[in-house]
Amino acid sequence: MSAVELIRIEGVSKRYETTSGAVDAVRDVSLAVRRGEFCTIIGPSGCGKSTLLAMVGGLVQADAGRVLIETQPVTGPDPKRVATVFQDPGLFPWRTAVENVEFGLEIQGVDGKRRRAVATELLGPLGLRRFAEKYPRELSGGMRQRVAIGRALAVDAQILLMDEPFGALDEQTRVLMGEWLLDIWRRTERTVIFVTHSLHEALALSSRVVVMTARPGRIKSVIELPYGYPRLMESAEIVTLRAKLWSEIRDESLRAMGEA
Ligand SMILES: Nc1ncnc2c1ncn2[C@@H]1O[C@H](COP(=O)(O)OP(=O)(O)OP(=O)(O)O)[C@@H](O)[C@H]1O
Ligand SMILES: [Mg+2]
Repeated sequence: MSAVELIRIEGVSKRYETTSGAVDAVRDVSLAVRRGEFCTIIGPSGCGKSTLLAMVGGLVQADAGRVLIETQPVTGPDPKRVATVFQDPGLFPWRTAVENVEFGLEIQGVDGKRRRAVATELLGPLGLRRFAEKYPRELSGGMRQRVAIGRALAVDAQILLMDEPFGALDEQTRVLMGEWLLDIWRRTERTVIFVTHSLHEALALSSRVVVMTARPGRIKSVIELPYGYPRLMESAEIVTLRAKLWSEIRDESLRAMGEA
């Protein structure tokens, strides 16, 4: 493994056995994620993106292949090193917004005062300052999603796995949250693996976009985005890449819908 590589996914496959038959979710995916990279995965619904992320996070065991983080095989969750924003926010209903954000720090044994300070500071840019004391049931879907993002970011983990973190947000908030995330990513040198269905988000945020095929998910193509930030989304390069990305995703989405 070279020094620039942080995560190496080596030939991973995953099949789910269910009462109504087996589903091949991911097949033979290999990918090296560089240290400090913002790597985005895009692909049709049901192609195995969440499954792939869960294998990187040690939450789902691969049937074949393995995931290495800094040459060590992943055998289970390692919350100190890998923070995850799940597709479903999965907040603790009995904890307020600020207490949910504090959760990871509490597990790490950070004292109460410090925890509250870190969590409170995060709630500002998440647009939740006035909702710190609310319980999840009192929040909107988009707010719950933002609490989940805060919970993941509060822990200073080196690797951030984000599964459609902005999926439940309205367009405007989504753009602002993307800018905020980009700023955090650039300041803290974290390595991000990000799943989205939004071409715009993929092109605006990522240093690399990985396109997956319809299920069983394989890697269809990898697009490098060696451009600075903020990105000029109307530039000739981005417009060309957008067309390329769309044509690949369109093909796979059509296949996925036909086979579903
Ligand atoms: N725990 C599970 N048990 C059985 N099948 C599962 C399980 N989790 C996922 N699957 C199946 O595996 C396939 C891939 O699911 P996955 O959630 O990884 O897709 P995805 O790419 O994240 O989709 P989406 O874009 O809709 O979130 C789907 O067909 C899904 O039905
Ligand atoms: Mg998913």
